[in-house]
Order: sequence, then C-alpha cells, then structure tokens
Amino acid sequence: MERTFAIIKPDAVERNLIGKVLDKIETAGFRIVGMKKMQLSRAQAEGFYYVHKERPFFGDLCSFMSRSPVVVLCLEKENAIADWRTLMGATNPANAEAGTIRKEFAKNIEENTVHGSDAPETAAFEIPYFFSALELA
Ligand code: CMP
Repeated sequence: MERTFAIIKPDAVERNLIGKVLDKIETAGFRIVGMKKMQLSRAQAEGFYYVHKERPFFGDLCSFMSRSPVVVLCLEKENAIADWRTLMGATNPANAEAGTIRKEFAKNIEENTVHGSDAPETAAFEIPYFFSALELA
C-alpha cells in the first residue's frame, strides 16, 4: 500500500465540485485516509510550493491557492502516487487525456482543479505538511 497527497483546489471548491472529484477518487479505488477543508494563508501556500519559488508563476500560484478554501486529502491504494497522477491528467488541461479530472474540470494550467504528489519524497513532505499522525485513519 502507498499513500499520496492531494488537494482539491480553490477553482473546484468555488464551483461546488468537491463531491464530483471525491466520487472519481473513490470510484478509482482510493481509500480516503485523511481529509479536511481549510483556508490556506499566503505563507502556508508559499511553504507548500517552495520548490517552485524561482518559477515565474510562483506569485500567481500562491495567490490562487490562498484566495478561497481547499480540500486536502491523504489517499491510499497500491501504486497511489502514479495512479493519482494518471487520474488527475496533465498539468495543462489542454494536454490532459479524456476521462481525467483535469480534462473534465480544469479551467487552465494554473487553475487546474487538483494537485498530487509527484514522487515518494514529495508525498513524504506534503502529507505531514497538512496532517498529523492522529488525523490519518
Ligand atoms: P500542481 O500540480 O499543484 O503543481 C504546481 C502548480 O503550479 C500546478 O499544479 C499549477 O497549478 C501551477 N502551474 C504549473 N505550471 C504553470 C504555468 N506554466 N503557469 C501557471 N501555473 C502553473
């Protein structure tokens, strides 16, 4: 079993898409180990995305991620990291495969509905950034 970290981003929460995204997650066989809705501060968004701090889109990305609530999730299944990335689809929805969450719901490359860890080391940083051990059931 493997765990990964996911976010349902502000563009999706604003459009009342939490339930539709969760349905796809559960239908694909992920177990929801941890879940909470929260409002990120600008500093919390910057800390989460620090690996992108030199990118030209960093400022806009942190403004977007802190403009309204998100849902953060810890997901578990075999091959969870790769399988969640497959279910999300490409970062840019214009390049996403049919049937993926970003193809169906994402607005553009920035407001792309969901986030997922890209590697085990990333998941090992991202899960405890948001969840304590007691919150992972
Ligand atoms: P995510 O998977 O959360 O990882 C980093 C985020 O930065 C990405 O999804 C997008 O929301 C955003 N992002 C990545 N590339 C770009 C880009 N070229 N322009 C704007 N935002 C981007």
